[in-house]
Amino acid sequence: MSVFADKLIDWYKKNKRDLPWRETKDPYRIWISEIILQQTRVAQGYDYFVRFIRRFPDVYALAAAEEDEVMKYWQGLGYYSRARNLHAAAQSIVANGGFPVTYEGVLALKGVGEYTAAAICSFAYGMPYAVVDGNVYRILSRWLGIDTPIDSTLGKKLFAQVADELLDKFNPAMYNQAIMDFGALQCTPVSPDCLSCPLADSCLALANGSVEALPVKQHKTKVTNRYFNYIYVRTGECTFIRKRTGKDIWKNLYEPLLIEADADLSENASKLEQKIFDVLGETPICFFRPVKVGVKHVLSHRVIHANFYELVLPDDFGALEGYQKVAEEDLHKFAVSNLVYQFFSLILKPNH
Ligand code: ADE
Repeated sequence: MSVFADKLIDWYKKNKRDLPWRETKDPYRIWISEIILQQTRVAQGYDYFVRFIRRFPDVYALAAAEEDEVMKYWQGLGYYSRARNLHAAAQSIVANGGFPVTYEGVLALKGVGEYTAAAICSFAYGMPYAVVDGNVYRILSRWLGIDTPIDSTLGKKLFAQVADELLDKFNPAMYNQAIMDFGALQCTPVSPDCLSCPLADSCLALANGSVEALPVKQHKTKVTNRYFNYIYVRTGECTFIRKRTGKDIWKNLYEPLLIEADADLSENASKLEQKIFDVLGETPICFFRPVKVGVKHVLSHRVIHANFYELVLPDDFGALEGYQKVAEEDLHKFAVSNLVYQFFSLILKPNH
């Protein structure tokens, strides 16, 4: 076993977090936990995992569920393609007679990449696959003083190779859990606690003062701005929502009337009114008010600049093309993005 793995596992035994997915070897539960934790911190993912497993305790329960219900259980977690992929993969697992038992089989599941396949196979089956993610890049680049960009072809190959060499092949499950906790608790992105680090005396980055500069990335993520105007249309006791479709954010989540623009319209009332008329035609408007403007919602590759409005139409107003009419009291049954949830919370009594 390498000195690295030795010290890492030693550290883990003293500092490990007790987490529900660490108490099982059930590949289904481990798979669910790893998908939740792909882009989510443990502190947030914990409760989602517990609730998800309570409702969908095995792959058959998940495969048999309606997608809308799965989405509802995912509401608020973000990166919703994870939930859609989980549901589709559960159905393929059932169709194929059970959870795959090889690395290749696990890797072939929708939504499972090399990191997640290594995690599942090491935790559930004790297979010697090293996890490589942002935490691992950070730990290895610092300990070995590697400044090859982690998002270059060369860097990816190099780090995969090093990770594989350092892996404790006799105890891959504990090694992988250990490196995850070490990244989350000890070798953190900002202000790592190097004074108390068990690897400090052999850490090259610490020796040459480059801890905060590593790992190196060559490309910055490009961020696009989008301008959403959400309008809560009320008619009698009903409102209108639609399911988002197509290749865009929040696919399969619900939203109220959306008017997207190429710039912020909060200071341009006439343009917004014109766009509302384009949607509603000749319908008389009883009442219109801004609920909140200037809401900035930051996602990984996008910033949504949102404005919220409320619009009241006559009680006998019929249909809004592309939207479904729902009773306000049923609104809480639909999965929505955090942004829409925030909007609905401003409009409705807090029971959704
Ligand atoms: N992050 C990703 N997978 C994890 C796991 N199994 N335990 C803790 N954090 C994680």
